[in-house]
Amino acid sequence: MAIAPHGGVLVDRLLTGAALDEAKSWAASMPRVKVDAYTAFDIDGIAKGLFSPLTGFMSEAQTRRVLDTMYLRDGLPWTIPILLAASQADADRLKVGSPVAIEDDMGELVAILHLSEKFSMDHGEICEKVYLTRDTAHPGVAYTMSLGPVFLAGDLDVLKAREIEFQEYNLTPRETRAEFARKGWRRIVAFQTRNPVHRAHEYLQKVAMEIVDGLLLHPLMGTTKSDDIPGDVRMECYKTILDIYYPKNHTMLTIMPVNMRYAGPKEAIMHAIIRKNYGCTHFIVGRDHAGVGNYYGSYDAHYIFDKFEPGEMGITPLFFEHSFYCRACGNMASIKTCPHDKEHHVFLSGTKVREMLKAGQIPPAEFTRPEVAKVLIKWAQSETG
Ligand code: ADX
Repeated sequence: MAIAPHGGVLVDRLLTGAALDEAKSWAASMPRVKVDAYTAFDIDGIAKGLFSPLTGFMSEAQTRRVLDTMYLRDGLPWTIPILLAASQADADRLKVGSPVAIEDDMGELVAILHLSEKFSMDHGEICEKVYLTRDTAHPGVAYTMSLGPVFLAGDLDVLKAREIEFQEYNLTPRETRAEFARKGWRRIVAFQTRNPVHRAHEYLQKVAMEIVDGLLLHPLMGTTKSDDIPGDVRMECYKTILDIYYPKNHTMLTIMPVNMRYAGPKEAIMHAIIRKNYGCTHFIVGRDHAGVGNYYGSYDAHYIFDKFEPGEMGITPLFFEHSFYCRACGNMASIKTCPHDKEHHVFLSGTKVREMLKAGQIPPAEFTRPEVAKVLIKWAQSETG
């Protein structure tokens, strides 16, 4: 038996066939609202059931409940509101109870919103409760504070799935579930990442692989901050490392078209729920998961899982300490498995790694696989500035 989606039912809000044709011609006469890429990704996530059980954008009551209790309803954890923000002028044009046509960042008509409520909420309060800070240097806070003042709530009917790069890797939850069944995998561990796979990532993945049937390497490919490594470079790194260092019959690479929120612990819960919807049974949470800067403690994303009753999450989190290569041990380790002093541990800061790559130097093989480093050097040297 496959793992149940969050809330029991895998949501599908994508219209097809005659319903789609009808909705398209109906939408032509509706008032339109244009959304940015971030919101368009959220619409796509709702459409395909990544955010099951959500069927649309949250109401004020739902948002408050999520912010204040971390639950959607009894027994159903949820930590980050999914909101559609509009300008005052847009909101004033729209009538609650009447449908709204949604146009995406590329000018395409993508959805119909069945507007059930318009509400305002203090953006600073949302930041405080999601990102645990109001500091606008935090990318999630900066984005939230830039949003329009009115939130539009309601169910969605989606007219078009969002097409992005690497479309052949963009499997829906329904498709990954079917693929796991085809492979005969019952226990699947998902690995979230927004970076190339370095040795520490590889270690976490392979330790986890020892106790499951397969690894879903599941990089996030929604919007990310501008100084994160671009998706195409990361994809080349993933394919390279999988090809050389992973057994093909126990690994799968698909992407997760979801925005990076940099919300640390609250986002770790969201990442786990989404992977449960994709059919994964286990989820890796390492050091400073989904963190940015120094806003979260290294293991806050572990502790937050303890706030829920056993079984409420459905998916099993696998927690990992900060891991590194220890020259004295001669292998990857963490403080749980290595007795040696720090001087034996290979540690490189992100800044140091970037400097090396830019200079065409391959970082130590204990830090990153040389084949991955070569991909990164090609990219780093093509970057200007
Ligand atoms: S994240 O924003 O997607 O979390 P990243 O791609 O760096 O960032 O991390 C992917 C996963 O690996 C996360 O679960 C993170 O906690 C974990 N991780 C990254 N580096 C280490 C490390 N050195 N030791 C332990 N866990 C790590």
